Amino acid sequence: MSEDRDEKGCGGRGEECGRGMTRRNFLASLGVGAIAIAASGNPAAEKEASAAVIKSGEALEINLQINGHAHRLLVEPRWSLLHVLREELGFTGTKEGCERGECGACTVLIDNIPRYACMTLAVEAEGKEITTLEGLMHGEKLGAVQQAFVEHDALQCGYCTPGQIMAVEGLLRKKPDPSLDEIRTGVSGNLCRCGAYVNIFKAAKKAGQLKRGGVL
Ligand code: FES
Ligand code: FES
Repeated sequence: MSEDRDEKGCGGRGEECGRGMTRRNFLASLGVGAIAIAASGNPAAEKEASAAVIKSGEALEINLQINGHAHRLLVEPRWSLLHVLREELGFTGTKEGCERGECGACTVLIDNIPRYACMTLAVEAEGKEITTLEGLMHGEKLGAVQQAFVEHDALQCGYCTPGQIMAVEGLLRKKPDPSLDEIRTGVSGNLCRCGAYVNIFKAAKKAGQLKRGGVL
């Protein structure tokens, strides 16, 4: 279990999991609770529930700060940050995997802390600094963590790689010289079905060295 999730009281894999909010709260915010009431046969509760469901379809105007740039857009309250990043704004470096807080493919940094974008509502991210994989680039040049992943061949199919890179970036922003155990914990919320972990750990160590040497 990562330290960040400890601080938030989240477990990572169970009901209370999530880099962003609990699964229970997330479902409630989608109006699922309201739908359940609607199916209960209680007319008063049903009326209230349908109002809640209708409300979730209304658009809200929000401002998101992504990779140092402001984006003003209309979102539905139920939209995840993952949906908004990929489908509304074109930040496709953030990958869609399980969409339920289990794989880590969608990891982004929110105020420098790794979070699952699929478990974070876009409206929750307003006023925070969001960093995606694209934000680690320096023009056409790779950032330190991206460079280290290439040097250490820290991938096979590559699907988990953007999330792993963001998890390592978040770890190094907090702990510039992490031990192997700290690296293991830092990427413990990111699954690699190809089992490329050994090289991911080596890449994380190397990325720390690069950053300490001035490469960003
Ligand atoms: S897509 Fe978000 S954790 Fe799997
Ligand atoms: S490299 Fe294939 S899932 Fe990690």
